[in-house]
Amino acid sequence: MTKLTIFVFLSIWFSSSYSWSNKTHIDDFLQCLSHQIINSNSSQIIHTPENSSYSTLFNSFFSDNQRITSNFKPSIIFTPTKESQIKAAIRCSKIHGLQIRIRSGGHDHEGLSYTSETPFFIIDLRNLRSISIDTQKKTAWVQAGATIGELYYRIAQKSKKLAFPAGVCPNVGVGGHFSGGGYGMLARKFGTAADNIIDAKLIDANGQILDRESMGEDHFWAIRGGGGTSFGIITSWKVKLHDIPEKVTVFNVTRTLDQNATQLVYKWQHIADKVDDNLLLRLFLRSNISSPFKRGQRSINAIFFTMFVGGVDELLHEMKKSFPELGLMKEDCIEMSWIESIIFFYIGFPKGTSPDVLLNWNTTTKKQLYFKGKSDYVQYPISIMGLEGIWKLYNKLGENAGVELQFSPYGGKLSEISESETPFPHRAGNIFMIEYAAFWMKMENSKRSLDWSRKLYRYMAKYVSKSPRAAYFNYRDLDIGVNNINGNTSYEQARIWGVKYFKNNFDRLVKIKTKIDPTNIFRNEQSIPPLLS
Ligand SMILES: Cc1cc2nc3c(=O)[nH]c(=O)nc-3n(C[C@H](O)[C@H](O)[C@H](O)COP(=O)(O)OP(=O)(O)OC[C@H]3O[C@@H](n4cnc5c(N)ncnc54)[C@H](O)[C@@H]3O)c2cc1C
Ligand SMILES: *[C@@H]1O[C@H](CO)[C@@H](O)[C@H](O)[C@H]1NC(C)=O
Ligand SMILES: *[C@@H]1O[C@H](CO)[C@@H](O)[C@H](O)[C@H]1NC(C)=O
Ligand SMILES: *[C@@H]1O[C@H](CO)[C@@H](O)[C@H](O)[C@H]1NC(C)=O
Ligand SMILES: *[C@@H]1O[C@H](CO)[C@@H](O)[C@H](O)[C@H]1NC(C)=O
Ligand SMILES: *[C@@H]1O[C@H](CO)[C@@H](O)[C@H](O)[C@H]1NC(C)=O
Ligand SMILES: *[C@@H]1O[C@H](CO)[C@@H](O)[C@H](O)[C@H]1NC(C)=O
Ligand SMILES: *[C@@H]1O[C@H](CO)[C@@H](O)[C@H](O)[C@H]1NC(C)=O
Ligand SMILES: *[C@@H]1O[C@H](CO)[C@@H](O)[C@H](O)[C@H]1NC(C)=O
Repeated sequence: MTKLTIFVFLSIWFSSSYSWSNKTHIDDFLQCLSHQIINSNSSQIIHTPENSSYSTLFNSFFSDNQRITSNFKPSIIFTPTKESQIKAAIRCSKIHGLQIRIRSGGHDHEGLSYTSETPFFIIDLRNLRSISIDTQKKTAWVQAGATIGELYYRIAQKSKKLAFPAGVCPNVGVGGHFSGGGYGMLARKFGTAADNIIDAKLIDANGQILDRESMGEDHFWAIRGGGGTSFGIITSWKVKLHDIPEKVTVFNVTRTLDQNATQLVYKWQHIADKVDDNLLLRLFLRSNISSPFKRGQRSINAIFFTMFVGGVDELLHEMKKSFPELGLMKEDCIEMSWIESIIFFYIGFPKGTSPDVLLNWNTTTKKQLYFKGKSDYVQYPISIMGLEGIWKLYNKLGENAGVELQFSPYGGKLSEISESETPFPHRAGNIFMIEYAAFWMKMENSKRSLDWSRKLYRYMAKYVSKSPRAAYFNYRDLDIGVNNINGNTSYEQARIWGVKYFKNNFDRLVKIKTKIDPTNIFRNEQSIPPLLS
C-alpha cells in the first residue's frame, strides 16, 4: 500500500464515521467557521436552523422542482461575501468532516447543490454576483453567484453590439451552467458558454485561490465542461463577448399534428444542423397538463422556436431555401435587439416586458412544479414511425402531467471544435440533443410520471447515440448512474455515468481530479472520483 492509499482510506473512514447526524460535530464545525471568519460579519452569513433566514433560504431552493427531497437538511447555509470566507469553510469542512454542497443558481435537475443523503452544509454564492464588462477588450468578469439573465442585462446596458452565448432561462446560475457547457440560442454561431471562457478564479481543496495561470492548463480545461463540484469552488469566470448586430430576428411558429407536425419534425431533422450558422431552429414538442385529448389522442404542439442573427429578409431567404415546408411568413417574424430576444425566448415573461425583469433573480420562478429531465443525442434522423411511437407514448402519460421534448440543433460552431478541446464532447456527428422533460403538479403523480419518463427513454434507445448513449451533463440525470456518497466510488462505477457525459474525456478528468483533490473533498453523486492508488 502506498502512502497515498493509506491516506485515502483514513479519510474515507474519517468522513464515513460522520454519516449520521451528530449535533456535537456540527457544533464543532460551526465554532470553527465562526472562529475562522471572526473579522468578517459572521452573524450575517452563517444561517443555522435557529435563524429565521435559514428557512426562507431553504424553502427558496425547491421553487424550481418540488420533486427533490433528501434525508438531511443542511446543517448550515453559508452565504459568504468574500473569497477568504470560502477558504475558511473548506478548512473547517476538512477538519470536521462535514460535507460541502456548492450552490450558485440552484437549477441542478437533481438538486445536488442543496440536498444530500449525508450531513452537509451549503456554500451558497448568492452574495458573489458582481459583473464587470470591458467593451473595448470585449470581455467580462462575472462572479459565480450571478445569473445568466444578470450577465445578459449588464452586457446590453454597456453595449447594444455585444452578446454572450449561454442558456435560455435567465435564472440559471453561471456557476453551474458554464462549468457543465451551457447551450442557448447562439450556440450554433458561437459555441457553448464553456467554449467562451478565457480565465477563471477558483478555490481548490487546499484553500488556495487560483486563476488560469496558477491552476495550470489541465485544471482550467477540466472546469470548462467537466462540471462544477469536482474541481474546486469557482468564484468567477472571465468570458469572451461577441459582436452582434443591433437587430436579430426571432419567430415562434406552432404546428399541430393536424397541420402536418410529424412530417415537419421529420424534415427538420435533415436540415437543423446544416443551415446557416446564424440560424438556430429549436423545436419543442409540447403537450401540457391542460392540453385536451381528441379521439383518444393527446394534443401535441410542435413549436419552432427560432433565433436568426440577421434581418428578416435574409431569414426568409434562408428558410425558403432550407425549410420551405414550414411555410414561414414575414408576419411570423419579429426583428428586435438581442436583449429583447432573451426576454422573448423566456416563456415566463409576456411580450413587452422590460429587461429589468432579468435582474429579479429571486422572484421570477415560482412554478411549484414537479419535474424530471433526461437527455439524449441523435445522430441519424428518427423515422416517421419512430416519431409516431413517441406521440403514442405521450398518450400514456397520465392526464395530470405534461411533457415537453426539446430538440436542440447542433452543427455550426459546436461541431467545428474537437471532442477533446473541452470536456464537453458532443461535437461533429450530432444532429441534435433531446431534453425530455415531464412535469406534474402533485406528489401523488410522481411514481407514474417517473416510470413514464423512464419508459420513453427505453423506447428511444434505438433512435439515439450508442456506446456510450451520450447525455448532457447540465441535464443531470441520476438514473444513468451514481457514486457512493461517502466518497469511496471506484473508477469502474463512475465510468458508467462518466462516459455518457464526457465520452473519452472522462479518463483525463479522473487523472486531473486525482492530482488536485486526491481525498475527494469536493464530491457528490456524480462528481469525478480520484483514483484510489
Ligand atoms: C428552468 C431551467 C432551464 C434551463 N435551461 C438551460 C438552457 O437553456 N441551456 C442549458 O445548457 N442548460 C439549461 N438548464 C440546465 C442548467 O444549465 C444546469 O442545471 C446548471 O447546472 C445550473 O447551474 P446553477 O448554477 O443554476 O445550478 P446549481 O444547482 O447551483 O449548480 C449545479 C451544479 O454545479 C455545482 N456548482 C454550482 N456552482 C458552482 C461553483 N461556483 N463552483 C463549483 N461547482 C458549482 C453545484 O454543486 C451543482 O452540482 C436549465 C435548467 C433549468 C432548471
Ligand atoms: C458524536 O460525535 C462525537 C465525537 O466524534 C462522539 O463522541 C459521540 O459519541 C457522537 N454522538 C452520537 C450521538 O453519535
Ligand atoms: C455587517 O452587517 C451589518 C448588517 O447587514 C452591516 O450594517 C455592517 O456594515 C456589516 N459590517 C461589515 C464589516 O461588513
Ligand atoms: C442567527 O442566530 C444567531 C444566534 O441567535 C445570531 O447571532 C445571528 O445574528 C443570526 N444570524 C442571522 C443571519 O440572522
Ligand atoms: C403535409 O406534408 C406532405 C408531405 O410533405 C405534403 O404533401 C402536404 O401537402 C402537407 N400538407 C399540409 C397541410 O401542409
Ligand atoms: C396547453 O395546450 C393547449 C393546446 O394544446 C393550449 O390551448 C393551452 O393554452 C395550453 N395551456 C398552457 C397553460 O400552456
Ligand atoms: C410560443 O407559441 C406557443 C404556442 O402558440 C405559446 O404557447 C408560447 O407561449 C409561445 N412562446 C413561448 C416562449 O413558448
Ligand atoms: C430579491 O432580491 C432583491 C435584490 O437583491 C431584494 O431587494 C429583494 O428583497 C429580494 N426579494 C425576495 C423575495 O427575496
Ligand atoms: C463503499 O462503502 C459502502 C458503504 O460504506 C460499501 O457498501 C461499498 O461496498 C464500498 N464500495 C467500495 C468500492 O469500496
